[in-house]
Amino acid sequence: MPDAGYRDQREPPMADLTTDYLGLKLRNPLVVSASPLSRKVEMVQRLEDAGAAAVVMYSLFEEEINHERHELDYFLGRGALSHPEATGYLPSVAFDGYGPSRYLKQLERLKAAVHIPVIASLNGVSAGGWVEYARRIEQAGADALELNLYYVSVDPDLPGIELEQAQVNLVRQAREQVSIPLAVKLSPFYSSIPNMAQRFADAGANGLVLFNRFYQPDLDLERLEVAPRVVFSTSEDLLLPLRWVAILCRRVDVDFALTGGVHTAQDVLKALMAGASVTGMASELLAHGPARIAQMLLEMENWLEEHEYHSVRQMIGSMSQHAVDEPAAFERANYIRALGSLDHRLV
Ligand SMILES: Cc1cc2nc3c(=O)[nH]c(=O)nc-3n(C[C@H](O)[C@H](O)[C@H](O)COP(=O)(O)O)c2cc1C
Repeated sequence: MPDAGYRDQREPPMADLTTDYLGLKLRNPLVVSASPLSRKVEMVQRLEDAGAAAVVMYSLFEEEINHERHELDYFLGRGALSHPEATGYLPSVAFDGYGPSRYLKQLERLKAAVHIPVIASLNGVSAGGWVEYARRIEQAGADALELNLYYVSVDPDLPGIELEQAQVNLVRQAREQVSIPLAVKLSPFYSSIPNMAQRFADAGANGLVLFNRFYQPDLDLERLEVAPRVVFSTSEDLLLPLRWVAILCRRVDVDFALTGGVHTAQDVLKALMAGASVTGMASELLAHGPARIAQMLLEMENWLEEHEYHSVRQMIGSMSQHAVDEPAAFERANYIRALGSLDHRLV
């Protein structure tokens, strides 16, 4: 059965849900986060019909690009000498026919099939030739590029400052490749998130996506092996990005997208008030399908009307910390208050 279209359910239009993100005019703040949802054209069409404002594609990984390049080198007969490890490259990572050519083709297909903006996603850590793919992505028609910085450092001799500089350099390198808007999806694990946010902005990011989610592998005690686990989020996970969007909003001059723990219309409203221009959703849509978007949009409209807001733009940042003179002291005071509030509940 086709999903109930958001447009079919709302006559006449009520509150203005439009928003601006990365210079794109979006019909509302509900963006589909990078996930397998964009692997199927038909799914993205259903998401568009349900009311999604934009879709971020699943990521193209640096390793996939290098893998294809190494294979090419090998088959051209040069790889055997220059890259003796070429044949065994990435033995443990199966890309199953994914890879850059396929990615670009999928991007072109999505652009042809839907009207909403399609934001491509590149995932990598090191500066290098692979970043040229940012340009190929732009040429294939992406409306914007999200750079997904995902790196788990395991080297005790590698100082954080070097890793951070490498990430800033990567953002600058990507910026040099493209003229489409650039967003950076960062992790919450920096000593100073505001400093990194500012440095990414200075390197050319137009938007910051808070936050990347790190998958924490479990151990399987029976099979004695590492078990990769993808666990869907809950609304509890919203609190971390919510806080950081509220702190960074209007302190760093970029647009903010909040992703992580958005499951309800209330979650979206909180994110907007904290300062996000858009919210990204993956878990809720993977678990309950595109129709959730239509339901959430209706709930948002009702809420706005009941609370006499006439637009989403009016809400953005209304509960951010930009009006707080001493945010660090404010944070400590809240921490002390929160711990104190538990006292009376002790048994
Ligand atoms: C199955 C799955 C695959 C994902 N793949 C990607 C990806 O390729 N690139 C990326 O940047 N984020 C990826 N994510 C992270 C999501 O884009 C999103 O940031 C994260 O899941 C938090 O949003 P949620 O709480 O709505 O799930 C993936 C998430 C899931 C659940």
